Parts: sequence; C-alpha cells; structure tokens
Amino acid sequence: MKFFIDTANLEQIKEAQALGILDGVTTNPSLMAKEGITGHDNILKHYIAICDIVDGDVSAEVVCTDFEGMVKEGEALADLHPQIVVKVPMIKEGLKAIAYFTKQGIRTNCTLVFSVGQALLAAKAGATYVSPFIGRLDDISTDGLVLIEDIRTVYDNYEYETKILAASVRHTMHIVECAKIGADVMTGPLKAIEGLLKHPLTDSGLEKFLADYAKGNS
Ligand code: E4P
Repeated sequence: MKFFIDTANLEQIKEAQALGILDGVTTNPSLMAKEGITGHDNILKHYIAICDIVDGDVSAEVVCTDFEGMVKEGEALADLHPQIVVKVPMIKEGLKAIAYFTKQGIRTNCTLVFSVGQALLAAKAGATYVSPFIGRLDDISTDGLVLIEDIRTVYDNYEYETKILAASVRHTMHIVECAKIGADVMTGPLKAIEGLLKHPLTDSGLEKFLADYAKGNS
C-alpha cells in the first residue's frame, strides 16, 4: 500500500519524506488555507515546493465547479509539474472533466467520494485515483472502512485500473485496516503514520538490550 501524507505543511512533508516511506502528498483547499497559503500564484508556488520535496504524486485540487472552468484550471495545474495529479470533486461537471482529462492523458484524483456508486462512476470516467473519505463517514456513524471494502470488491469484479486512495484517514488503525482490505493508497496525517512505529515491547526491549550492553562494556 502506498503512503501519502494529507497536508500542505512543508515541514511535515519533509519529516515524512525523511522516514523513507512516503509515496506522495494530497492537499485540498482547506489544508492550504490552514497553512495560510492564499492567492492563486502563492498556491501554485506551494504546489511546486511540495513537488520539490517528494518523489511521488501530488494532488492539487480545482476550485471551479463548472466543466469549462475545471478543464482550464486542471490543464494549468497539470502543466505546473509532472508529479501533479488533478483533484476533481465527484459532481456531474467533475465527472465530465475527469472523462475529458483521461482522454488528454492528464491524471486525476476523484475526491469527496462517499458511496460505491460514486466510485463506480469515477472508475468508468478513467480516474487515476478515487478518494473515499473514511473519517468523514465515521463522523456520521457510518463505517468508512466498509466503503473501502465494497469499492475493492467492485473494482476487482471488473478489473478497473483506478486506484483506491483511502482518504480522510484519522488514526493509525485506519491505516492498518485499509492495508488489510487492500486499498492501493492511504492518505493521512503524519501523526497517524508515525503511530505505526509505536509498540511498548519495542521500547522496553530496546531499553533492556542497551542496559545489558552497558553492563558488559563498562
Ligand atoms: C483527501 O484527499 C482529503 O484531503 C482529506 O483526506 C480529507 O480529510 P479530513 O476529513 O480529515 O479533512
């Protein structure tokens, strides 16, 4: 399973990259705003700064909601850097834009996906990635992981090439469960990724090894 980090914070992206396990980055307009990145030019520069840190795909989201606007914006984003994947919302105009981008060879990430039907449409339009938001489903008492499982079944039934990018991952167990189900990619915060490292037996085991080494070498 590929690991993407879901942030526009350059320090956190660098930290995740330094771990040696990072495969890409996802951003969205809220994450950009959280970092204080505003204004068209600054946002574009920020995408380039992210691409300079990581080797993999970087999702950059369109903010137009009509087909023509999305096409213009998406083409400009794709021209920015070869690592950019154009993130398009799962709405009617977005679906048309994804189908258009697919024909043009522009890679897409279909975002704000909350149902199997939406994921099916994204795959039929040729999206590179589909982003089901598991945390936001959990927030409304609906099991987000069941959606990942169901999309996996449907995509496998028809051998769709669209990659399942489990998004809105909130914690470490979401990552583990997504890996068990067979999500292709997960995107989550640094804290959830680093949570995978932790085990009390690792800490106590290491403490004992180091103490025994110190006894024998003092
Ligand atoms: C997906 O790419 C989104 O950026 C993201 O995962 C949304 O997560 P949230 O529900 O924690 O805001």
